[in-house]
Amino acid sequence: MNIPKYKAPEPFQMPDRQWPARTLTSSPSWCSVDLRDGNQALPSPMDPDQKLEYFQLLCRIGFKEIETGFPSASQDDFDFFRRLIEENQIPDDVFIMGLTQCRPHLIERTFEAFQGIKKGIVHAYIATSDLHMTQVFGTGRKGTVNAAVEATRQIRSLADAMPESDIRYEFSPEEFTDTDMPFCVELCKAIYEAWGKATPERPLILNLPATVERRPPNHYADMIEWFCGNFPYRDSVKISLHAHNDQGMAVAATELALLAGGDRVEGTLFGHGERTGNVDLVTVANNLFSRGIETGLDFSRLSDVAATVERLTGMPIYYRQPYAGEYAFTAFSGSHQDAINKGMHRLKDAAKAFGMKWKVPYLHVDPADLGRSFERLIRINSQSGKGGIAWVLEEDHGVRVPKAMQPELREEVQAYSEEAGREISSEEVYSIFRNKFVNPEGPFRLVGYWPRPDSRDPTFIHGEVRICVNGEEKTAVADGNGPISAFVNAVSPLVDIDFSVDDYHEQAVGKGADAQALAYVPLQLAGNGVVFGVGVDSNIDQAAVRAIIAGLNRIAGKK
Ligand code: KIV
Ligand code: ZN
Repeated sequence: MNIPKYKAPEPFQMPDRQWPARTLTSSPSWCSVDLRDGNQALPSPMDPDQKLEYFQLLCRIGFKEIETGFPSASQDDFDFFRRLIEENQIPDDVFIMGLTQCRPHLIERTFEAFQGIKKGIVHAYIATSDLHMTQVFGTGRKGTVNAAVEATRQIRSLADAMPESDIRYEFSPEEFTDTDMPFCVELCKAIYEAWGKATPERPLILNLPATVERRPPNHYADMIEWFCGNFPYRDSVKISLHAHNDQGMAVAATELALLAGGDRVEGTLFGHGERTGNVDLVTVANNLFSRGIETGLDFSRLSDVAATVERLTGMPIYYRQPYAGEYAFTAFSGSHQDAINKGMHRLKDAAKAFGMKWKVPYLHVDPADLGRSFERLIRINSQSGKGGIAWVLEEDHGVRVPKAMQPELREEVQAYSEEAGREISSEEVYSIFRNKFVNPEGPFRLVGYWPRPDSRDPTFIHGEVRICVNGEEKTAVADGNGPISAFVNAVSPLVDIDFSVDDYHEQAVGKGADAQALAYVPLQLAGNGVVFGVGVDSNIDQAAVRAIIAGLNRIAGKK
């Protein structure tokens, strides 16, 4: 018999599905499972102090429901619950949640860990897929229902014995996406009835996990919509989503399942969790934020959050992780850099044109909203374009390279980064600018230039130039109808280069008495072509003269 190794999962038959036509307009509630699903999957799980620091971080971000462990499974988890409660570490509006299997002694132990809690969620789970029931437990559906209902009754009675605590109940049919749906609804109905306390104000949480991502995201959404439509007590349950990322689509699955009726999302920061992890809550929440939805989670200092999580988990965050990765908002390529540069300068026009304050090419959100404004959006390597290089010089060093000079600067930066064979820093870009355009090596050195207005017509200038050519000092005198033209007329015969200067750009850097002028001068060569030089001086004419000497050295270097 030829049995294939793999088969596509049966698509869920739902011709009248509604979710594809819906749009998300409000946020789900969030439950962090970092300290349970996330922690259990770390090569080196966190110690109690690290867990406490992580817990405090989650509270600062704004999580109101935090699964803090599996207190009946290990002494460490048990002790951590006790510590949180006894040291009064739990903010008044935060529920901590503890996981348990549907086994009497484990439930008993869970409640011991919960003693004295203000707000707690007991989370019971049982696997409901035929795969698990036959291959792992050797139980049938009936046995599963009995165990889950008995567990729920026990949880109800232990919760009733703690009237001073607000104890809620969450039930998870593990492997929901591999479970027969009518059976799952029947089981959850039995759980609801056994709990018997759910109301719209204090709903039962039904957490419907994609324990292993075996299906495409649209199947998950179909199953959630079908479940919601067929569960008889919909008003008094919260439908919770819990997606794992085995096929890399947990975020998509979660978003579609929210359209299909999910009210709450369980996941972890940056997707820590078993195997390829749980859904990344930073991505889901910021995706909603990017669509103008208030999520109640504060990621305005995302780099700090990322650094803390990296330190506590011992696991680095991938460079290209959405929102948090080092390169999440970085453009290396020239066309992207150029477009970002233009877009950032034209934000006001974009606001008018698109009716929103942020619409920038290649950046779907403003990195500043995530506390990343200080970082370089544009990074330089041999692929970088002139716009990006100009942006780095302007942003980091206050140097506004004129458009006409940018191609020449790009050539120099490209040659340098090709030689280096790596990304180059903003400081290196600035050094290239200084070494190649302000102080290039070459045969000419300015000793001095003395422009003197004519005694009868002060717009007419007599200039005296002294320069060194290959170490030999030379002097020339010439006139012109301005200080620059007098200089060009005087210097041309000394350097033996036929050039003219028609125009130049200037820029002030610094303020007050310390202000300096930067002159960017294009030297038009008689033979064709333009070469730029840049000069710096407190006097603008002297800055332009220095720029001409720099340009002449560049020309000599190219010969
Ligand atoms: O992935 C899963 O199914 C779980 C359950 C315990 C909810 O983590
Ligand atoms: Zn899980």
